[in-house]
Amino acid sequence: ETFPPKYLHYDEETSHQLLCDKCPPGTYLKQHCTAKWKTVCAPCPDHYYTDSWHTSDECLYCSPVCKELQYVKQECNRTHNRVCECKEGRYLEIEFCLKHRSCPPGFGVVQAGTPERNTVCKRCPDGFFSNETSSKAPCRKHTNCSVFGLLLTQKGNATHDNICSHHHHHH
Ligand SMILES: *[C@@H]1O[C@H](CO)[C@@H](O)[C@H](O)[C@H]1NC(C)=O
Ligand SMILES: *[C@@H]1O[C@H](CO)[C@@H](O)[C@H](O)[C@H]1NC(C)=O
Ligand SMILES: *[C@@H]1O[C@H](CO)[C@@H](O)[C@H](O)[C@H]1NC(C)=O
Ligand SMILES: *[C@@H]1O[C@H](CO)[C@@H](O)[C@H](O)[C@H]1NC(C)=O
Repeated sequence: ETFPPKYLHYDEETSHQLLCDKCPPGTYLKQHCTAKWKTVCAPCPDHYYTDSWHTSDECLYCSPVCKELQYVKQECNRTHNRVCECKEGRYLEIEFCLKHRSCPPGFGVVQAGTPERNTVCKRCPDGFFSNETSSKAPCRKHTNCSVFGLLLTQKGNATHDNICSHHHHHH
């Protein structure tokens, strides 16, 4: 691999194949190299970019302003396209920023939603519960009554915690 990267160009004046330098990110190809001169690259105009070494005589137009419910994560410059991202609490589904799913009671969050992905819910396994509808809360362990010196009076399930009560005192 040579640097800068090269490309083959047929020079009509000399009828020779020439090995020209490619143009770097942020520029476009203005003139192919010749036997005497190096490749001429010029900076991309405003609102245009190129993000790799290339041989194109045009820069790419930056994506238009971000949609509603999105924010500009990265502005466009000569070397990077504009990057839009869904706002907090939303993810991109095809074209729209939809709200992250909330897990219902009996289900906990195993993977919080990201700007690209919905929340992942999973049924609470034995010994765990969730009594809320939430896009953040994982399943929680049932309270261990004996740790607090209490009696288990109602065993919990996926939606309800264990219910503990005080020992009965004999007088
Ligand atoms: C263009 O934007 C990218 C990403 O935001 C950044 O890393 C880079 O430094 C910027 N380049 C210039 C010339 O501002
Ligand atoms: C969920 O369970 C916890 C622990 O038992 C309790 O403190 C809380 O009040 C419950 N929340 C709801 C909405 O029932
Ligand atoms: C509750 O705590 C006790 C004492 O630490 C322990 O022996 C017992 O295994 C625990 N039970 C559960 C269901 O975790
Ligand atoms: C879970 O326990 C609560 C309270 O004991 C009860 O009302 C509910 O029906 C139970 N749910 C299931 C699915 O067993």
